[in-house]
Amino acid sequence: MFDTTKIDSFKKRIMITGGAGFIGSHCCRYFVNKYPDYLIVNFDALTYAGNLGNLRDIETKDNYCFVLGDIRKSEEVSRIFERYKITDVIHLAAESHVDRSIKNPNVFVETNVLGTLNLLNVAKEFWKEDYSKHRFHHVSTDEVYGSLSENEHPFKETNKYMPHSPYSASKASSDHFVRAFHDTYGLNVTISNCSNNYGPNQFPEKLIPLVINNILNSKEIPVYGNGLNIRDWLYVEDHTSAIDLIFHEGINGETYNVGGHNEKTNLDIINDLIDLTLEVNKKTLKNVILKPRINFIQDRLGHDKRYAIDNTKIKALGWKPANSYKKNLEKTVRWYFKNQKWLEDVTNKEYQNYYKTMYKNGE
Ligand code: NAD
Ligand code: TYD
Repeated sequence: MFDTTKIDSFKKRIMITGGAGFIGSHCCRYFVNKYPDYLIVNFDALTYAGNLGNLRDIETKDNYCFVLGDIRKSEEVSRIFERYKITDVIHLAAESHVDRSIKNPNVFVETNVLGTLNLLNVAKEFWKEDYSKHRFHHVSTDEVYGSLSENEHPFKETNKYMPHSPYSASKASSDHFVRAFHDTYGLNVTISNCSNNYGPNQFPEKLIPLVINNILNSKEIPVYGNGLNIRDWLYVEDHTSAIDLIFHEGINGETYNVGGHNEKTNLDIINDLIDLTLEVNKKTLKNVILKPRINFIQDRLGHDKRYAIDNTKIKALGWKPANSYKKNLEKTVRWYFKNQKWLEDVTNKEYQNYYKTMYKNGE
């Protein structure tokens, strides 16, 4: 149990919502290690996507604590603001998977829209003496801008919002609420709209970890449509360094698009993963891995063709990605090889049921 008598010794007490998820856990780790004078309060409901196993290396640090809580419940958020004298929020908690949003949109509104509104209301109340001293950073997605055709210019911050999936519609709505609280009440906010992330600890419902998991288990790789949809892939630690920069240096009320100019078709990514996995396997574990088979399946409903980010604005703030795509993808594959126990734990019965429902025959 965290000793709350020490609370006043911290320069900032930041609530990171969704800190047990993929990006949230990297964000907690980054802030805990870089800022020993900040207290990081990880507020997470531990849904299927939340996993405290992502945070083992920082769980005993003096400037970190975990609180089980649901952003859909205002009173829980309020209680934690009061108990930890929260000075700032970095908001990542969300339902984050497009396919799930197509099957069940309601929970996306409850968590992503109403949950964000709850956080904003509590922040507005607690910080009312002087909003300028407290920052609310909202982590969002490039999917709010809709879909690009092949030759269109990448998304700028000034692009119109044109979300297509229930997921992106819910994130777009949450972005609007964050801006409305800035424009109406003067809350000190920043928003980041980032492209597709990859890296360790990503739940294997998303393309990259799903493909790695299937290769390791000699299962077919399911590709929606013709596999030529394009995403702009960014390594998760580059996203957290961007969040850090925007949180500290971003201008109140502004939005920053985050992406590393790394556009790939889904087939490009899958072929790179097959090559890397076979190579890493040969060098390390020497498991029996069959040459993976790609299975083209029915396309996702409303499948966005292409996402790409114009990162001029965040680069002007001083951000750039640290390493190359090839290095980072190899690092990611190696991590999943080394952490097959992590994969086994998260691909439990609930995941098997999910997989069967989403991919019909479970293959
Ligand atoms: P994730 O699904 O891996 O993790 C989400 C976390 O939020 C989990 O720990 C979950 O337990 C928690 N959570 C869900 N509902 C909650 C609730 N009601 N109360 C408290 N906690 C709750 O998601 P991720 O991929 O790490 O994405 C994090 C954020 O970044 C999301 O807001 C997402 O929209 C955004 N984002 C993701 C990507 C990406 O490629 N994954 C890209 C851009 C932006
Ligand atoms: P995903 O990782 O779900 O991210 P998003 O939909 O938010 O971009 O999917 C990335 C791309 O991969 C997207 O074009 C859909 C495609 N995809 C498949 O072809 N097969 C799959 O099994 C999954 C999960 C995704």
